[in-house]
Amino acid sequence: MNNKKIIIANWKMNPQTTEEVLRLIKGILAQRLPTNVEIIIAPPFVYLDLVKKNCGKEIKLAAQNVGWAERGAYTGEISALMLKNTGCDYVIVGHSERRHKMGETDEMINLKLKEVLKVGLAPVLAVGEKEQNGDIVKMLTQQIKSALKGINISDISRLIIAYEPVWAIGTGLSDTPDHALSAALLIRKIVGGLYGSQWAADLPVLYGGSVSEVNAIDFITQNGISGALVGSASLELSSFIKIIKAAGTNE
Ligand code: PGA
Repeated sequence: MNNKKIIIANWKMNPQTTEEVLRLIKGILAQRLPTNVEIIIAPPFVYLDLVKKNCGKEIKLAAQNVGWAERGAYTGEISALMLKNTGCDYVIVGHSERRHKMGETDEMINLKLKEVLKVGLAPVLAVGEKEQNGDIVKMLTQQIKSALKGINISDISRLIIAYEPVWAIGTGLSDTPDHALSAALLIRKIVGGLYGSQWAADLPVLYGGSVSEVNAIDFITQNGISGALVGSASLELSSFIKIIKAAGTNE
């Protein structure tokens, strides 16, 4: 398993100004950053170029979403190739806010994954059950199998999966580290059934959902959890820096 931990800042529809974007980026870069942590920022589309130009080598760039079509008459959409050409390395696909607030279907998520892989970007596939104590085996199996339908093992080496229980996102009510770990193991088991257990053992699986400067260490330092997808705490500079440092504690 790759022992570099992965921390992704999902800024969602924030911040509102370029000044604040630059303040956040420069604030991170002013730190002595651990070299064993892959730091990734996922800003809104309009800031991708600005972040790319200011993030140095220490921070990688992700998009929060991508269109499912290759090109053409899709007003308002952004293609995977455009993201690649703007300097993105990663794309979040199937975030629950897109599934539940924007009506994204499993079929669209499958098409998006195929586009992202085709152009050579790394997809961060977000999955998770809607209700606390929901049937996670059923939910995760269904989400993962439909997202990966028709995708060959040779095309999927860059995949990352983020376990994000919907009830924990933006609520301040995080999952327990034990439950998140068992969900990460379940994800590896499901993916292992599709592509082989050796491959699944190397798959990075992140946790997301109310990760904070206080609880981050309990998730990130678990062996089976490869890092975190961080929403609101990534917009608080001091909190986000503490989360990055927590991920780098073994350095
Ligand atoms: P949160 O968001 O950390 O604010 O709960 C996480 C996410 O949506 O990725």
